[in-house]
Amino acid sequence: MLTEVHKALIQKSWKLVVPISETAADLFYKRLFEIRPEYRRLFPDDMAAQKRKLLRMLAFIVKSLDWADSQWRDEVSPDEDLMLVVLALGRRHTELYKIPDESYGAVAEALLWTLDYGLGDAFTEEVRAAWTSVYTILAATMKMGCQTFDTSTSMNVRDVALRIGEEALLEGMAAAGIDDARMGFPEETL
Ligand code: HEM
Repeated sequence: MLTEVHKALIQKSWKLVVPISETAADLFYKRLFEIRPEYRRLFPDDMAAQKRKLLRMLAFIVKSLDWADSQWRDEVSPDEDLMLVVLALGRRHTELYKIPDESYGAVAEALLWTLDYGLGDAFTEEVRAAWTSVYTILAATMKMGCQTFDTSTSMNVRDVALRIGEEALLEGMAAAGIDDARMGFPEETL
């Protein structure tokens, strides 16, 4: 379960990651491919866009934690619906990128290692517990992704899933104050 204390710790520690986000993304993939060299071939040769997309998704997730419990009756647009975005993300991982469920453990390890390395003393036991908790919920939701979309409709589910995910990525990045120019990425579309 993600408590209000967890949410606050994640948002506070994320603010410390934002200024070093490019280095953090580099470290994360470096660590992932050290502990699981066989995952390198799952990713494109040029990792620049992938790093940017991961940071945008994390920024969107952290921003979504702002949603107060008292707002539970409010309507949420599909583009802002964290659950829908994460389910679609999970479905893309299974169906498009052919990610095995067991790889979520190694990604958790690389993420926690990166936060520990990047945040230093600010990565306390409580902060670790908060990130572990949010990652566990995310991974479980992503793994459910394949079971939750109706593939029998004539709608192109893949396109919808991609569109929802990418719009959310852009908004999340903007809300976190991360822009492509500042991170040194070329101004290309995703
Ligand atoms: C909480 C967990 C994860 C998050 C937040 C995440 C986030 C992302 C994002 C935002 C993308 C960009 C493309 C898209 O939006 O569809 C992506 C792509 C990808 N992710 Fe993940 N991911 C997670 C877990 C994993 C795991 C466990 C693996 C296993 C190695 C993995 C491997 C990949 C690969 C191979 C791609 C596609 C690269 C490409 O072909 O362009 N991800 N991920």
